[in-house]
Amino acid sequence: MDRPIGIIDSGVGGLSIWQELVKLLPWEDIIYLADQRNFPYRAKQKKELYRIVSDNVKFLVKQKAKLIVLACNTATVHTLDGLRQNFPVPIVGVVPVVKKAAELSRKKKIIVLATSSTAQSNYLKNLVKKFAGDCQVFIYALDEVIDQIENLQRIVITGKIANLSKKDVDVVALGCTHYGFIKPQLQKLFGKKVRVLEPAGAVTRQVKRVLTNNQTLAGKRTPRYTFYTTGDAIKFNKQLRLLLKKEFLAKKP
Ligand code: DGL
Repeated sequence: MDRPIGIIDSGVGGLSIWQELVKLLPWEDIIYLADQRNFPYRAKQKKELYRIVSDNVKFLVKQKAKLIVLACNTATVHTLDGLRQNFPVPIVGVVPVVKKAAELSRKKKIIVLATSSTAQSNYLKNLVKKFAGDCQVFIYALDEVIDQIENLQRIVITGKIANLSKKDVDVVALGCTHYGFIKPQLQKLFGKKVRVLEPAGAVTRQVKRVLTNNQTLAGKRTPRYTFYTTGDAIKFNKQLRLLLKKEFLAKKP
């Protein structure tokens, strides 16, 4: 089917999912919407966040999206259930990979890195209760690092982050899509014996499964990649260039 896949994030984090999607589903048209005017989503109250994200879903539905990826953990934990009730389009969310982290951990000690908003959510608490009851789970919010990634600043590994590496865990689950861009730095910080898990692979496989089941996969063709930002298009073009290593010209929705 020739209709595009839509992706939403508050900023550049979802580009870590975009990169995986392009690899796994190379014939699909993809529209990426960076809602940078509303960055950071973690600072929004639940009701306001729902209104913002559902407006973005409406925009992508108007662009004829056949499936939407909510490439943001914060938006997923707070809005996905409501969105699924109100929109018929299939929506795939991103949540911290707690289940896999717990399964892989031999020491039964894991770290989940998220935004402050995801860290405090009942959704994450329930995931931990359900899938990691036998583990010691340390949940940390590294909000300042997310801002550094969004603003393409140098990542400063402060004392707080450096101390995480002393927790003697063997698995770290990345619960914010922005962290996908600093996975190598985090891997270096925790050392080779620690598995750093990001959700991009699982999410894109789920997208493929849904499209296959719905018989809406695109046929072999040259795909079109479109980028929108609700913020500053010039800034976003620079972010795209540096993070994706390609030139794209973003538009305003
Ligand atoms: N990328 C978003 C996430 O996965 C968070 C960024 C924000 O705070 O808006 O949670």
